Amino acid sequence: SAAEKGGYEYFMLKEIVEQPRAVADTLLGRVGVDGTLTLDEMRLAPSELRDVEKIVIIAAGTSFHAGMIAKYAIEHWCRVPCEVEVASEFRYRDPILNRQTLVIAISQSGESMDTLMAVRYAREQRARVLAICNVNGSTIPRESDGVLYTHAGPEVGVAATKTFLTQLVACYLVGLYLAQVRTVKFGDEINAVIAQLANMPEQVENVLATIDPVRQLARSLSDASTVLFLGRHVGYPVALEGALKLKELAYMHAEAFAAGELKHGPIALIEDGLPVVVVVPSREGRGVLHDKIVSNIQEIRARGARTIVIAEEGDTAVHPFADELIEIPAVPTLLQPIISTIPLQVFACELALAKGNDVDQPRNLAKSVTVE
Ligand code: AGP
Repeated sequence: SAAEKGGYEYFMLKEIVEQPRAVADTLLGRVGVDGTLTLDEMRLAPSELRDVEKIVIIAAGTSFHAGMIAKYAIEHWCRVPCEVEVASEFRYRDPILNRQTLVIAISQSGESMDTLMAVRYAREQRARVLAICNVNGSTIPRESDGVLYTHAGPEVGVAATKTFLTQLVACYLVGLYLAQVRTVKFGDEINAVIAQLANMPEQVENVLATIDPVRQLARSLSDASTVLFLGRHVGYPVALEGALKLKELAYMHAEAFAAGELKHGPIALIEDGLPVVVVVPSREGRGVLHDKIVSNIQEIRARGARTIVIAEEGDTAVHPFADELIEIPAVPTLLQPIISTIPLQVFACELALAKGNDVDQPRNLAKSVTVE
């Protein structure tokens, strides 16, 4: 009913707008005023976390993209090797697991069969399994050693939105907590990031407050036959997520590339008028990557691409090469996906609406995929 949708025509629209609250709820009670993290409910003791020698993240779809981002954060903050793999591939390749392996299974529903089978396999190999999940008491957390719930509230739209942002927050919490219990050398950086993470609900709100031009932009692209997405570092999984959303909702051909791979092939696709969305890394700490992606934007534009650039406020280096500019607040590099994803959600949703699609129930898709 309209009331359930909070006055919105689709649940997805409501769920996008709920994101500041959802992100705040994931943080609630977990970040102390002094920056100490409390994740006791996770049921994995600090001693067990200190034993971890390798982390393997398994997930599907959007949750897999959250896992890709988590890898960048966890390796940087904790200096523990971290792999990430789509759940459907995991158990069929004879992965190397033991008691010192922490497997993190990310699943909104907690019911994806691919992820569940990977969890069962990991536990048979004696790995410890931590689930990051949104649905209380669902199968994956029940079969795992520990769980961190995202507390995003029910998500009805088939396309994951608020649950993706909250998965990111949960992954960051796990990474920062691991860094704290293992007392890594970047104590100051960890504390600074925790403070910034606590501030993310406000940043998400800021992005939503300025999102309207993205809707108009999306409408102007409803005749495009393909949209490409480029990103680097944590912007690469964000680009993948933007492309997945466009496929799911607008039924459009969309592909994402790591911007550095462009010259190894995909640049041949660039032709006059082709829309290319570029997620520009923050300037803080990643100056080199930032400059490289600015050259990429310049290169594709010279070959006719219509460049749609998502960049930090005041990032004047991109201005000359951006046909369309979407500005987001400046936040630490590793946290940027929490906000850079939002314009991509709105972009895909609006394009789908322009085409008359049902964004809550896209064709051929189910909210949770309970077959392998
Ligand atoms: C996201 O928009 C998709 N509906 C889909 O990729 C989803 O993320 C995937 O099926 C995994 O679901 P899960 O997180 O419930 O395991």
